[in-house]
Amino acid sequence: MVTIKQLSDHQDQIVTLKGWVYNIRNSKSIHFIEVRDGSGLCQCIVSADDVSEKVFEAAGSLKQESSLEISGKVIKDDRSIGGYELHATDLKVVQIAENYPITPKEHGVEFLMENRHLWLRSRRQWAAMRVRNEIIFAIHTFFQGRGFVQMDSPIFTGNAAEGSTTLFETDYFDEKAYLAQTGQLYGEALAMAHGLIYTFGPTFRAEKSKTRRHLTEFWMIEPEMAYYDLEMNMDLAEDMIKAIVKTVLEKNKAELDILERDTTALENLAEKRFERMTYTEAVDKLKSDETAALLDEMAASREKELADIKKEREEIKKEHGSAKKWRKAQIDQRIKEIGARVDQIEEDLRNIPGWKESARNFEWGNDFGGSDETVLMMQFDVPLIVTHWPAEIKAFYMKRDETDKLALGMDILAPEGYGEIVGGSQREDDLTTLEERIAEEGLDKEVFEWYLDLRRYGSVPHSGYGLGLERTVAWICGLSHVRETIPFPRMLGRLRP
Ligand code: 4AD
Ligand code: MG
Repeated sequence: MVTIKQLSDHQDQIVTLKGWVYNIRNSKSIHFIEVRDGSGLCQCIVSADDVSEKVFEAAGSLKQESSLEISGKVIKDDRSIGGYELHATDLKVVQIAENYPITPKEHGVEFLMENRHLWLRSRRQWAAMRVRNEIIFAIHTFFQGRGFVQMDSPIFTGNAAEGSTTLFETDYFDEKAYLAQTGQLYGEALAMAHGLIYTFGPTFRAEKSKTRRHLTEFWMIEPEMAYYDLEMNMDLAEDMIKAIVKTVLEKNKAELDILERDTTALENLAEKRFERMTYTEAVDKLKSDETAALLDEMAASREKELADIKKEREEIKKEHGSAKKWRKAQIDQRIKEIGARVDQIEEDLRNIPGWKESARNFEWGNDFGGSDETVLMMQFDVPLIVTHWPAEIKAFYMKRDETDKLALGMDILAPEGYGEIVGGSQREDDLTTLEERIAEEGLDKEVFEWYLDLRRYGSVPHSGYGLGLERTVAWICGLSHVRETIPFPRMLGRLRP
């Protein structure tokens, strides 16, 4: 058996593919079957001249998502998906599928989510999962290459680490347990044992808000480094993100094409240093006239684009009546695209006044909302690292600067409106200070005794961060919602399939 991905090694040979019918067009003397096998897509041509009558009939009986084994000659054809076609000589039906619910016509996202177990077979979903896989591999390669040890932190935990409002509580043999919001505290213990470690596992937050960036179950990569300060922490995160992007650009060209991702900004990343500013500088930027002017400009250019594409739509609609069949299909496709873009622009135009207002009136001391992040990032085409946060809005474990007002935290915001992908900090390493923080937060000191031990026995400066995998996948793939970045997303109102 050969996979579609390997076809280039088998030009002009007879091979057998095992897969499923992605799409099929039939005519009297020829069947065009788009076959997918998990590794890719390949157009297979079953011609009445080349196969037995029985085989030709069998091909005619295939429906979308039927499973089959198909043999034939591999022919190079640059116009074909993947660059190769199969000219069939034989075919074996494995199963004729029932009427498949996801057809090539458009479906609403709720319907697709209900059928997530099948939707994953669609091209775009397939491509996103391949990119996710490559990102995971790139992360391991990056850290392993630098001598980090991957260690697993527990999922059942006895204490909260990232605030008590997003805890999933569960019953642990009559004791309360929580699903881990982060592996960090355990990561700190492991760093004191191994120096450089990273955890890579699922984390859970009872997020009650429905946004395009929040899941209740998501995967986080959390490196923790003994003897690292904030600066070294930021440098590491920047190197890691650049390594991930570089790998995806090298390995996933085909997938990014399927996702129609404009990769210009991603390609420029390697050369550039990430933007860095303090929280206070970021607030000033957000409130500035420059930002307000940028938003006005954005509104104006969106208005213009809207007028242009609406005009185009009117014109091609007129052409539709007398157009040839192939051109009609082209027009239908374009009208669909325009429709989607119009919706998006109209949404932006509805949002911009609110964004402007919220940016202008932003008060020092608040956390950035999703729209503030989007507005802030309009000015940059590389990620932005924001440091020195008001201590009140950051976690108890963060070390503070000499004023005691600012936490040595760092968040990394992705460009193009994808929001915060990394949250991290230098950690408080002084026993007494940390005890004070725990008391101030009203946390139960007893459950943190083990964590305090890390400050009792050989405490050292140390730092770490957490990278949200799904938001990273969303950004790199250019997907507007995290629900398409993980095989089976868990969100408010979504537990099945
Ligand atoms: O900023 P957060 O809350 O940081 C921590 O949990 C630290 N303990 C990490 C550390 O220092 N070791 O979360 C880190 C990242 C966010 O930047 C975001 O990318 C992602 O995790 N994240 C979410 N992703 C999807 N859905 C959610 N509900 C998320 N909450 C956080
Ligand atoms: Mg955060």
